[in-house]
Amino acid sequence: MRLAGKTALITGSARGIGLEFARAYIAEGAKVALADINADAVAKAAEALGPQAIGVVLDVTQQVSIDAGFAEAIARLGGLDILVNNAALFSAAPIAEISRADYERLFAVNVSGTLFCMQAAARHMIAAGKGGKIINMASQAGRRGEGLVAIYCATKAAVISLTQSAGLGLIAHNINVNAIAPGVVDGEHWDGVDAFFAKYENKQPGQKKREVGAAVPYGRMGTAADLTGMAVFLATPEADYIVAQCFGVDGGNWMA
Ligand SMILES: NC(=O)c1ccc[n+]([C@@H]2O[C@H](COP(=O)([O-])OP(=O)(O)OC[C@H]3O[C@@H](n4cnc5c(N)ncnc54)[C@H](O)[C@@H]3O)[C@@H](O)[C@H]2O)c1
Repeated sequence: MRLAGKTALITGSARGIGLEFARAYIAEGAKVALADINADAVAKAAEALGPQAIGVVLDVTQQVSIDAGFAEAIARLGGLDILVNNAALFSAAPIAEISRADYERLFAVNVSGTLFCMQAAARHMIAAGKGGKIINMASQAGRRGEGLVAIYCATKAAVISLTQSAGLGLIAHNINVNAIAPGVVDGEHWDGVDAFFAKYENKQPGQKKREVGAAVPYGRMGTAADLTGMAVFLATPEADYIVAQCFGVDGGNWMA
């Protein structure tokens, strides 16, 4: 029960990695607000997790929605000790075919969503005076380019940079800001990634997934559960002295 008595808000947690983090935080004793743009899915996910979970409809691209969602979560949870900025979109296209609409859509969710949710959490945590933990979901994609994935890679590089600046800017308030950079994690997100590569690299559905899984030094794609150890650790007092870092949890994928 390393998070007993703690309260957390996780964006984009109606499914996938965010949902698994919510499950892990509750198992460690926390109360969790699942916050997602998908109202039906977030309500069902929160109900399935039981009384320690609440569902909040929150669109990280809209300031009014961030303000209302954080206010609701803080009121219903009785505070906010931990924020996980997890909501994100993916897209892929050759440089010559990238659309401005895709660029704006991804930057709105992945970058401005991360920044302004950090701001909302930080304002509450500073006022409450108890410190806090902010964990941003970056990616191996933020550490190098990819010919077909320019926008997503740039957004995740920005998440790493925001983690560094916010980490330095908030540690004086005992708010630790750090990031996790997964490699390739199986789930609905990667089904979408697979479909992009099927289109642009002429692959069969499922082929890219098999190839990337086989290429991971650990021997397989990651699962959301592979990431929960780091997500819990960064939310505990054991991580108090860790500031502005980005940790790869990727089976060795980026190093290789
Ligand atoms: N799956 C991977 O291989 C992988 C690899 C590296 C990094 N990541 C990162 O991990 C995080 C979680 O990934 P995942 O695989 O669980 O993704 P996912 O696509 O399964 O889940 C993303 C969630 O975000 C929600 N969302 C989308 N737009 C939103 C908005 N405007 N406001 C609020 N919620 C919104 C979606 O409804 C969905 O529930 C993301 O930041 C992703 O970039 C994933």
